[in-house]
Amino acid sequence: MKFDFTNALGENLLDGIKYEGIKGITGRLHAFLENFRQNPPGFVKVFKDSSHLEQILKVADKCKKFENFVLVGIGGSALGNQAVFGALFHPMWNSLPKNKRNGFPRFFVMDNVDPEHIASILDIVDPAESVFNIVSKSGSTSETMANYLVVRGILEARGLDPREHLVFTTDPNEGVLRKISIDENIPALEVPSNVGGRFSVLTAVGLLSGASTGVDVKKMLDGAQEEVDRFKNEDDTFKNPVLLNAAIHYLYSRGGKSISVMMPYSNALYTLADWYRQLWAESLGKEKSLTGETVNAGQTPIKSLGTIDQHSQVQLYMEGPNDKVITFLRVESFRRNLKIPVVHQDRKELSYLCNNEMKDLINYEQEATSLALLEHGRPNLTISFDSINETEIGRFFGYYELLVTAMGFLYNINTFDQPGVELGKQNTYALMNRKGYEAQKQHIEDVKKNLKIFKI
Ligand code: PA5
Repeated sequence: MKFDFTNALGENLLDGIKYEGIKGITGRLHAFLENFRQNPPGFVKVFKDSSHLEQILKVADKCKKFENFVLVGIGGSALGNQAVFGALFHPMWNSLPKNKRNGFPRFFVMDNVDPEHIASILDIVDPAESVFNIVSKSGSTSETMANYLVVRGILEARGLDPREHLVFTTDPNEGVLRKISIDENIPALEVPSNVGGRFSVLTAVGLLSGASTGVDVKKMLDGAQEEVDRFKNEDDTFKNPVLLNAAIHYLYSRGGKSISVMMPYSNALYTLADWYRQLWAESLGKEKSLTGETVNAGQTPIKSLGTIDQHSQVQLYMEGPNDKVITFLRVESFRRNLKIPVVHQDRKELSYLCNNEMKDLINYEQEATSLALLEHGRPNLTISFDSINETEIGRFFGYYELLVTAMGFLYNINTFDQPGVELGKQNTYALMNRKGYEAQKQHIEDVKKNLKIFKI
């Protein structure tokens, strides 16, 4: 992965953050670096943890024999898996015959509790030929638990042994999944206690589905570790892509740029932008600072796809409110390429395309958009993948986990909690009449009683 910050800096961009502005927060950036060196966060420790990996690979060997690998999870317990799948797999993987999948399973995700979505997966997945990986760190997320019960009900109705068709990925000690796995001897992998949901893609959460479907997960871990090493061994902010990018996003966000767009110029990388959205939103969107002041920190993460959204979003990015920092992802060497044939060469409206390669067209479009944004005073930066492979995807995960941690340090917030989603969860439990939530149910009724209703 290579980084180009040229179009984000005030030396080149009207009203941009300048070198001197970044130097002004060097003390904070170095405090973060030092803090990290002394006390690295839990998610970093798993990148080199080989015992964790061995267990995952052992379970994956069993999962590989199935026709279908069905992941049941949501949020941090599904988005990383989808990102890996989107980036590294043939887009029509599930429609390929088994030999074209090198014998590996098809891959499905049961995340949302949209009955049409879940029922349609169950229409085409034969439970007898499937392994269901139930992933929930807490073991209490209602969507995942509901989908688990649906799966469990089907296994029981079909007389299929849950110990054969289920694998849990959950907290080592806490939660109902851990209890069930102990009571019923269902295989279970651990989400390390010191790794939060959205930082867990490079633990059993994200690695089991990958390893079971043929991904070289060791390369992903090594890629992430390379980014950690690059970060922690570089004191110069202007040579350290984590520190520089954190400074850029932090200073722009403080200056009113409240939106952070990620725009891959590659369909395969689009699911990475979904993973990034959760990481950025849940980690940085915080009401209170660590010292208790109201800060309402964060930037709203948006995803766009190049070139498609040049014909949808870019007009706004160019001329609408100047409230965004845009990160482009581009690929230097695509896994496949197409040459545009020489047809209609006598027509100047088409001839400039003839004999060109499609990979060059998409990359020139990215460069053209990036420069046009610069000329409109819109800060943007570009992250280039050499190609799309396990190592680069691992680097991306490692890099963004570090970046978001650095951002949280600069905002002085707790990057690793998510108090804002708790109330919604409590309300759901209350509305579903979960035992112990009677007072919350009463509270909801009281709130509703006092509302002026505007329904049509
Ligand atoms: O980042 C987080 O902690 C959350 O987004 C969780 O990943 C999400 O809520 C799912 O939680 P769990 O794995 O406990 O089911």
